[in-house]
Amino acid sequence: MDELLGHESAGSGPMLVLIHGFPFDRRMWAAQGALAQERRVVALDLPGRGLSAGISVEGATIESYADQVAELIRAETGSVGTQADVAGLSMGGYIAFALWRRHPGLVRSLLLSGTRAGADSEEGKAARTANADIAWAEGTIGLAEKMLPKVLAPATGDEIRNRVLQMFDETPGLTAIADLVAMRDRADSTDLLATITVPTLVLRGDQDAVASEADARAMAEGIKEAEFAAIPNAGHLAPLENPDAWNEAVRAFYSHSMVAGGFDEMS
Ligand code: MLT
Repeated sequence: MDELLGHESAGSGPMLVLIHGFPFDRRMWAAQGALAQERRVVALDLPGRGLSAGISVEGATIESYADQVAELIRAETGSVGTQADVAGLSMGGYIAFALWRRHPGLVRSLLLSGTRAGADSEEGKAARTANADIAWAEGTIGLAEKMLPKVLAPATGDEIRNRVLQMFDETPGLTAIADLVAMRDRADSTDLLATITVPTLVLRGDQDAVASEADARAMAEGIKEAEFAAIPNAGHLAPLENPDAWNEAVRAFYSHSMVAGGFDEMS
């Protein structure tokens, strides 16, 4: 098997694994370190960036990313039981779906933020290819002008904006291209929703211009044990833009859902 994904962790107890979106890295979860009071929070870097810069993205698919996350969960859970609470933002959510499809026994609960179950439309696929061309010609930063207004709420301040820009800038162009192809070719997970039996929280920034409220609500309705939380004053990157509200929604979900009971039994 490949080298383990690079990651940072904080806290102790059951593992909460955080899977970032595109074209970001583990740093988008900086404020979720606050959840380390309840969980061992593990923020990973997908292949080809950050602490996983040395891991090849050649032939990457959403499934191969999910297999690499599974390997990390197996390696890191050890004595606490081979299961993790899994959070995915957007592309990270597509990976969380693939993880459920391929390794359901590893998933204890799901947080699905700013994501959607459906595959790309033909128009969406063409846009992925066009974005890959931009990343090839200009590097990932070339996508920022087009994407930034979609991933951040208009009122999100410069400090967050600059941190997001830095992630665009530091994601290698070839990595962005691999992600774009993987997302373009991903499976439709709509039929998977009914098979998800673990407690799930669907979160969405109320100004998310990428993942619609209709998609988020449909996802929550399609999953048996799911709840929906709208995060105020936030766009697509809600955990970064309004971390207090995002973290609070997660804490409330963990404390009243089955996950809290499981936590007690396991710790
Ligand atoms: C992300 O944040 O991961 C992307 O917006 C996902 C996408 O483009 O579908």
